[in-house]
Amino acid sequence: MKTYTPSLIWITGASSGIGEALALEFARKGASLILTARREAVLQEVAKKCRQAGAPQTWVFPLDMSDEAAVFKRAEAITAETGVPELLINNAGISQRSYVKETEMSVYRRIMEVDFFGAIALSKALLPAMLKRGSGHIAVLSSLAGKFGTPMRSGYCAAKHALHGFFDALRAEYHQEGIGVTMLCPSFIQTDVSRNALTASGEPLQKMDDAIAQGMPVAVFARQAAAAISQRREEVILGGKERLGAWLHRFFPRWFRSYLRKAPVR
Ligand SMILES: NC(=O)c1ccc[n+]([C@@H]2O[C@H](COP(=O)([O-])OP(=O)(O)OC[C@H]3O[C@@H](n4cnc5c(N)ncnc54)[C@H](OP(=O)(O)O)[C@@H]3O)[C@@H](O)[C@H]2O)c1
Repeated sequence: MKTYTPSLIWITGASSGIGEALALEFARKGASLILTARREAVLQEVAKKCRQAGAPQTWVFPLDMSDEAAVFKRAEAITAETGVPELLINNAGISQRSYVKETEMSVYRRIMEVDFFGAIALSKALLPAMLKRGSGHIAVLSSLAGKFGTPMRSGYCAAKHALHGFFDALRAEYHQEGIGVTMLCPSFIQTDVSRNALTASGEPLQKMDDAIAQGMPVAVFARQAAAAISQRREEVILGGKERLGAWLHRFFPRWFRSYLRKAPVR
C-alpha cells in the first residue's frame, strides 16, 4: 500500500495520552509538529521530547478547543507562523461517566463543544488553505463509542457519532480536491481519559477505569494509528479484542444490544 509521512502536522490535545504519543511517533519519523492544548507548560515538555526524538521543528500554542472564536483566530495566526499543516489530527477530547438521568445539560454542551464543535471549527479554519494547495489530510479521534452507544457515555457517544457524520460528509465533498479523512476508532487505550472524564455535575471522575488500565499501551496504539494515517485509511478500529464489538453490533445488532445492557461499563 502507498504510504506517506506528512512533513508538518498539527495535533490538538497533544499535552497527554494519545496526542502526546502520536506527536512522539511522528517526531521519530521526522515530521515537524504544531502542538496545541490548554496546558502550555506540559506541552513544552512534550515538545522537548519530540525534538529529542527527531522532529526538525516543534511549535507549542495554548488553545482551548471549546473557544470557537479563538480557534479561528489562532488558526490564522499559527499557520502564518508555521505554514499550513499537511495533516491535522483532531485528537482533543473529554469523555463522560454518568447516567442520563443525573447528567446536567451543561455537561453535554461541554462535551459537544470540545469533542465535536472544536474539531469541526479547526478543520473548517484550515480547509480553505488545504484546498488552495490541492492536498491535505484530516485524522479524527473517534472511538468505539462512535460506532455504538454504551451506558454512562451518552454525551460522549453522541459527540463521537456526530464526528462520523460530519467527516464522512467532508470526505465526500472534497475527496476529488485532494482532501482525505481517517477516522480512528480506539477501544481501550492506557491514558488518563477516564480520570479526566466528566461526571454528572461536570467534575472529573479522577479514577482510572479497569478497562483503560488493562487497555492497549498508548505507544502501540500511536504506532498503529500513524500507520493507518500514512496509508490514508478511511476508518480503522484499533485496540484489544473489545474492538470486535463494532462487528458484533453490525452483524448481530439485537444480540449485541442485549449484551451491552448487562456489560460492565466502568
Ligand atoms: N484512551 C482511550 O481509551 C480512548 C478511546 C477512544 C477514544 N479516545 C479519544 O482519544 C482522544 C485523546 O484522549 P486520551 O485518551 O489521550 O485522553 P487524555 O489523556 O485525557 O487526553 C485528552 C487531551 O485533550 C486535551 N483537551 C481536553 N479538553 C480540551 C480543551 N477544552 N481544549 C483543548 N484541548 C483539550 C487535553 O489537554 P489539556 O488538558 O492540556 O487541554 C489532553 O491533551 C480523545 O478524543 C478521546 O475521546 C480515547
